Amino acid sequence: MPESERVKLFDTWAEHYDDSVGEWSKQFPFEGYEDVLGEIERLSHPASGLSVLDLGIGTGRLAERFVKAGCAVWGMDFSPMMLAKVHRKLPQVELIKADLLGHWPLPTGRTFNRIVSAYTFHEFDLDSKVRLLSRLAGDHLTTGGRIVVGDISFPSEYVRDSAAEKWADSWDDDEYYWASDEAREALHHAGLDSYYHQVSICGGVYVIEPR
Ligand SMILES: C[S@@+](CC[C@H](N)C(=O)[O-])C[C@H]1O[C@@H](n2cnc3c(N)ncnc32)[C@H](O)[C@@H]1O
Repeated sequence: MPESERVKLFDTWAEHYDDSVGEWSKQFPFEGYEDVLGEIERLSHPASGLSVLDLGIGTGRLAERFVKAGCAVWGMDFSPMMLAKVHRKLPQVELIKADLLGHWPLPTGRTFNRIVSAYTFHEFDLDSKVRLLSRLAGDHLTTGGRIVVGDISFPSEYVRDSAAEKWADSWDDDEYYWASDEAREALHHAGLDSYYHQVSICGGVYVIEPR
């Protein structure tokens, strides 16, 4: 799907996103959604004064956890309607409108203590995921910082294939759900260390650090 159509899709979703996500979290692909957000928060060890960049900030459901913890939060998203929603909710968050795979808006050396993301990277194929994560780790992470990504994810390619059969009716072939064995190997080849925790039947969290 062309990028402009993806943006429109998320713009339309923005108005009812917060209402719908509660209901959806009971089933694939969002089963365990709140637990995944909680695990991203836990593994990020948020603390007052830390700088945090949230990629695909949406309506700010992950970002608000870091705001409450006293972090200075930045958010990036390509949907103007999502950004308008989060701005109303969390006016203290610095927002950047950008396509994560397009023209990169941050100068090299603009670093953050934590870079986090929830339910966004499944939009990108594995190569694009690894390229983006390498750029983030190389150019935008403070020394000792970490990247924490939660998303639709399975422990292995085998389990992902079984899940595709089981949930054939709601499986979206235009999306790229993670398989931890495949992803961790690709990250390793790119010079990144990773740790993975399966949180729900279809959701998990990656901690990624430069080696
Ligand atoms: C499913 S929502 C998740 C929102 C939020 N992180 C959460 O967990 O509730 C995905 C978000 O990623 C954004 N997004 C998807 N692809 C993007 C891209 N290529 N560049 C920037 N933002 C993107 C969408 O606009 C949307 O706000």
